[in-house]
Amino acid sequence: MCGIIGYVGRKQANNILIDGLKRLEYRGYDSAGLAVLDDGTICSLKRVGKVRELEKAQEHFQHNGTIGIGHTRWATHGIVSEGNAHPHLSDGSHFAIVHNGIIENYLPIKTFLLGKNYTFYSDTDTEALANLIDYHYQKEKNLSFVEIVRKSLLHVEGTYGIAVLGKMFKEEIIVARKSSPLLIGIGDGENIIASDASAIARYTKQVVYLNDGEIASIHPDTFSVTTLYEGLVDTVYHELDWEISDVDFKGYPHYMLKEIFEQPAAIENAMRGRFTQDGSSTKFGGLPLASQELCSIERLLFCACGTAYHACLEGKYLIERYARIPVDIEHASEFRYRNAPLGRNTLVFVVSQSGETIDTLGALYEAKRKGNLVMGITNVVGSTIARATDGGIYQHAGCEMGVASTKAFTSQLTILSMLALLFGRRRDMDYATGQQYAHALRSLPERVEEVLGLSEEIRLIAERYYRMEHFLFLGRQGMYPIALEGALKLKEIAYVHAEGIPTAELKHGPIALISEGAVSIFIATQKELLEKTVSNIQEVRARGGKVVVITNDNRIEWKVISDDVIVVPEVHGGINPIISVIPLQFFAYYIGILRGYDVDRPRNLAKSVTVE
Ligand code: AGP
Repeated sequence: MCGIIGYVGRKQANNILIDGLKRLEYRGYDSAGLAVLDDGTICSLKRVGKVRELEKAQEHFQHNGTIGIGHTRWATHGIVSEGNAHPHLSDGSHFAIVHNGIIENYLPIKTFLLGKNYTFYSDTDTEALANLIDYHYQKEKNLSFVEIVRKSLLHVEGTYGIAVLGKMFKEEIIVARKSSPLLIGIGDGENIIASDASAIARYTKQVVYLNDGEIASIHPDTFSVTTLYEGLVDTVYHELDWEISDVDFKGYPHYMLKEIFEQPAAIENAMRGRFTQDGSSTKFGGLPLASQELCSIERLLFCACGTAYHACLEGKYLIERYARIPVDIEHASEFRYRNAPLGRNTLVFVVSQSGETIDTLGALYEAKRKGNLVMGITNVVGSTIARATDGGIYQHAGCEMGVASTKAFTSQLTILSMLALLFGRRRDMDYATGQQYAHALRSLPERVEEVLGLSEEIRLIAERYYRMEHFLFLGRQGMYPIALEGALKLKEIAYVHAEGIPTAELKHGPIALISEGAVSIFIATQKELLEKTVSNIQEVRARGGKVVVITNDNRIEWKVISDDVIVVPEVHGGINPIISVIPLQFFAYYIGILRGYDVDRPRNLAKSVTVE
């Protein structure tokens, strides 16, 4: 949450900061700001709203400094206002700071500093740290910049990714991290720091990820990383696998639509090089498990949040059906504090697009603490989760900028389906069944292309329903997670009441919601239990509710019993969830657009949730 950018080099910092903030905007977009050091003075500019407001104001901001920091905010402490926007200056303007995370003990720090005659101008926790840094500077003026910040951080409880500018340190930025991502992009005569690779990729591919408890001093030509307790850190360089074009719109009006259409390629990338030579199973280089270990696993546990949690729930249906291994799934935020008993032979997976979600990280650490092996499924190479797990699988879906996850979800489903095949073949799935499954997976990009062809048809259906306020998504078995995901997408970007419900549960309560103002979307893409779903549709129709059906079965006169029908291709059960969810992504997108919302920046949300 929130985006941080910083530049120190020979070029004018302003434009680089604005460019970086635009790329980071999906991390938070309540307000944005920047500060540059110009002729020994810290000059700052902030605006409420999107980065374009800051960009407009910046045209009249005549400061040519070659060092600066910027921030785009997702509010935690204090309302959305210019005063609460970052950067925060210390009283007297010696220091400016941008911060992601939450300083939990900011009140005692603030009280202490008020006692030392510091004045505060915002309601934020961050300003307490800005003034604490100034306090340490005033106390011991001969300290180096990194020492001043280090001493201050030793008093801080909570989480942070910070970048600090000091008016007397003309060519130096200090950054530090605890539970909030930061990386240093190494340039030629310039260095860029950011909370997210998307802001760095266009300047350099060589990066150094900061680990928790590390602090770094960044100059134009050099940088050095130490721990908060002054231990030296061996610098590990990483190569970014991002392309600048990943963060462009490529002619689409929104990232969300672009990413829906990128799904065939994302799925292809998730599968590349991961089928066994005999064509009946899959393999993952990043899973460091010998054959015997794979066979001795008695239980799997998946932890994740939001859309990734829905992917895990789908994984449970797939793995239990095809591999016959019991699977538990948990919301990562619950698992981390629940003290769940874990069996020795339970293999834990954490799933996260960003690889930075703090609750998922918490679950990861908790499972490791209990001595279990933890694997990751993540999209961002080098992310914290990727580095903290014992092994794992990269999605290779390409950068996902849309706050509402689409291609990352279907790429996770692809990987989970491949895991079902892998574990199945290690148990009692025969060769021919494995081959059929693998063949279905390989055909997936093509089948997804077919579904993408339904875009216009779904837009017309959305036009008929976009003014409605209640949407129920109904699915049985493996279509239940898809129903949950369809409802989440709609809530996120169209701000309407939407619920995902196992179809048969309707009559146990939610049916009370059915009226002319409610739309029920039935995901009827499994042959088994179809007749029962038809009965449930009739129950909704009998109460005046609107019905949309997503199906692959043409034996039933859907037009007679529903208001609208979306027909998708009939496919193997292992890939059916992927085919079934795409119409729901389109539906949510078009409803959001028709209601006039900014689907790439839905209100109150941010792409990566790095606070609890
Ligand atoms: C998806 O549309 C959401 N914005 C959100 O639920 C997201 O999936 C969740 O926060 C988990 O993110 P992660 O995959 O990056 O961990």
